[in-house]
Amino acid sequence: MLGLGSYLPDRVLTNAELEARPELDTSDEWIVRRTGIRERHIAADDEATSDLATRAAQACLADAGVGAADVDLIIVATVTPDMLFPATACLIQHSLGATRAAAFDLLLGCTGFVSALATGAQFVETGALRRVLVIGADTLSRITDWTDRSTCVLFGDGAGAVLLGPGEPGEGLLSFAMSNDGGAADLLALPAGGSRLRVTPEVSAAHLDCIKLKGREVFRLAVEGIPQIAEDAMRAAGLGADDIDLMVMHQANIRIIEAAAERLGFPPEKVPVTIDRHGNTSAATMPLALDDLRSQGRLSPADTILLVGFGAGFALAAAVLRW
Ligand code: ACO
Repeated sequence: MLGLGSYLPDRVLTNAELEARPELDTSDEWIVRRTGIRERHIAADDEATSDLATRAAQACLADAGVGAADVDLIIVATVTPDMLFPATACLIQHSLGATRAAAFDLLLGCTGFVSALATGAQFVETGALRRVLVIGADTLSRITDWTDRSTCVLFGDGAGAVLLGPGEPGEGLLSFAMSNDGGAADLLALPAGGSRLRVTPEVSAAHLDCIKLKGREVFRLAVEGIPQIAEDAMRAAGLGADDIDLMVMHQANIRIIEAAAERLGFPPEKVPVTIDRHGNTSAATMPLALDDLRSQGRLSPADTILLVGFGAGFALAAAVLRW
């Protein structure tokens, strides 16, 4: 882990503002009690995912003291690419001036950062590449149905990045575990805009170009699946819960975080929470949480960190890192 950086758009949307919209029929009290979210950041009209990601990547490279020209590969995990192609990673390659870097996206949702980290680490471990920039970035506000109170209160925008490079044995990514249940893919989807369903005025009027979420089912699968995938990753690293200093979970709902932490036996002080301030930013939640921890002085060199995510696909992913 050579560097870390993140970026949140300036605009903060509070629960009070959502409560003030009578057509949503929601309240700060309901949102806080059922999700833990108090506010979220929303990208400006002229800010796309690559803009957020570029800011996070610039902060990350500055943190590492590495120039953009030295980056070998950029991997961007996102479900809100600027456009379907070219890959958002290519746009970031250009905006960073990372002229030597190869670049590709992973279209994965909330587990994207963990899977991108595991992917990037393979290139470093084999010795094929020395500087791999891994970015989790999403602008979920662009695919949110702002008339649907059951989803629009959940999401926010943001980006985070880490730079990977060769290290000593026992440093960096120690293990990972990933799984999918494609049979549950309909629980969380953006139905239109791909080759299955074109966005027409009718499709758009039905909000099929927005996130469709079966919240209760996702909740249940997450609380069941997180402990399993976390145990898999810890076992692969030869570690147990007592060896972990921090469990950084995907931030989707405070009740999921608390339930999973309890099942795994992690005390609250080992389980950072950013959902109150960031909402669910999909692939960005974990790197944003890492940078948030560091800014609070809670991230120390040699800390052992368990990352755990769940999301569209239905995907579960976990990784153990030594910072
Ligand atoms: N304000 C007020 N009432 C609401 C709101 C709201 N914003 N949203 C829903 N309600 C109502 C419902 O209409 C329902 O009313 P009813 O009982 O009269 O039918 C009631 O509240 C309970 O609804 P549920 O859906 O059962 O509420 P639940 O406690 O399950 O919370 C939530 C819903 C927050 C979505 C929860 O299920 C959840 O967090 N699920 C997981 C979401 C998730 O993790 N998504 C993955 C990420 S998506 C991505 O990253 C792209």
